[in-house]
Amino acid sequence: MSAHSLYIGLMSGTSMDGVDAVLAAFDSTGKPHVIDRSDAAFSNALRDEFLALNQPGSDELARSALAANALAETYARAVKQLLQRANVDASTIKAIGAHGQTVRHQPALGYTIQLNAPAYLAELTGITVIADFRSRDVAAGGQGAPLVPMFHTGVFASTQTRAILNLGGIANVTILQPGQDPIGFDTGPANVLMDLWCELHTGEPYDKQGAWGATGKIHTELLAHLIRSEPWFALAAPKSTGRDLFHLAWLENRIHHVQTLHPEQPAITPQDIQATLRALTARSAADAITKYAAGASEVLVCGGGARNAALMTELRQCLNCPVNPTDIAGIGTQDVEALAFAWLAWAHQQGIAVGNPSVTGARGARILGATWPA
Ligand SMILES: Nc1ncnc2c1ncn2[C@@H]1O[C@H](COP(=O)(O)OP(=O)(O)O)[C@@H](O)[C@H]1O
Ligand SMILES: [Mg+2]
Repeated sequence: MSAHSLYIGLMSGTSMDGVDAVLAAFDSTGKPHVIDRSDAAFSNALRDEFLALNQPGSDELARSALAANALAETYARAVKQLLQRANVDASTIKAIGAHGQTVRHQPALGYTIQLNAPAYLAELTGITVIADFRSRDVAAGGQGAPLVPMFHTGVFASTQTRAILNLGGIANVTILQPGQDPIGFDTGPANVLMDLWCELHTGEPYDKQGAWGATGKIHTELLAHLIRSEPWFALAAPKSTGRDLFHLAWLENRIHHVQTLHPEQPAITPQDIQATLRALTARSAADAITKYAAGASEVLVCGGGARNAALMTELRQCLNCPVNPTDIAGIGTQDVEALAFAWLAWAHQQGIAVGNPSVTGARGARILGATWPA
């Protein structure tokens, strides 16, 4: 154990469900081993505030600062629980890698905003915090996302072509081909639209196992319109997206458009729309994988969407290679992203430049993140 360095990774993604935390030991080559995990849900108030802060609103500066502090408190809770579970003292942790909460992602305009309070988190935990991983890549002309493909290379590369598909709020894929630089990009919405639609019609924050959506039927005309009417889907990689694009108004405008084409037909049911959104996630991800990794021998899936049985079935129907959760490659589906941020913290401390033009479009790899010492 003594030859290993301990890091904590904290991920809170666009789903805004809460925080995933992992404690990992890194050997000198940077190979991580997950020791334990924990999570902490956002309070309803904090989730609502983050959702609200994704859109322009009043008094955003003060509200953002307070939401960032509340996020740090949620992060600190996850860290405390993790250290207790693993029976490890805070003083033995080299650093925490903390993603922050994305509220704007506009790389073409030169910015991406992850709310975070790393100074407060360092104060609350007594552990060095490394944060703000995306802004340097954007400053170097990149998308600032996805940042995980180099990490995926380290933990998932094999002798055959593999695609790693993360189904968080947004879906992102890494394509690993032997002897080549990884390719990584966002493929579109994963859970973000399904969650919004489910909450609107059932009051539940997400569709457990996809059971509600499974009672509906895919509306093929709406599905085709959702894909064709959005130029972002046809853009070449590298590309990234977020809630700035895929929000409720985006969806409702398109439903309205399709319904007005057929005023004589009954309204599309909420369940059919949920089934169609599931198909949109599966189809857009599968199309991207087929386009950029035609010869993939396997697709490994992580993120909360891996727990949506109906979505996994749909993906298997859209792809003609095995589709498996990342557990079969040794990392739990809910640990991959958090582990990536532990790895980014490790890479920062090692002075390793991360990201490259094939992934984010940046002019070159950069050392990502900044340090708030314990
Ligand atoms: N049991 C489940 N059934 C269906 N969907 C699930 C389940 N568990 C999680 N999810 C989905 O996964 C999302 C969280 O995924 P996560 O990987 O944490 O995303 P993010 O990184 O964006 O926070 C939830 O919002 C929900 O949509
Ligand atoms: Mg999450």
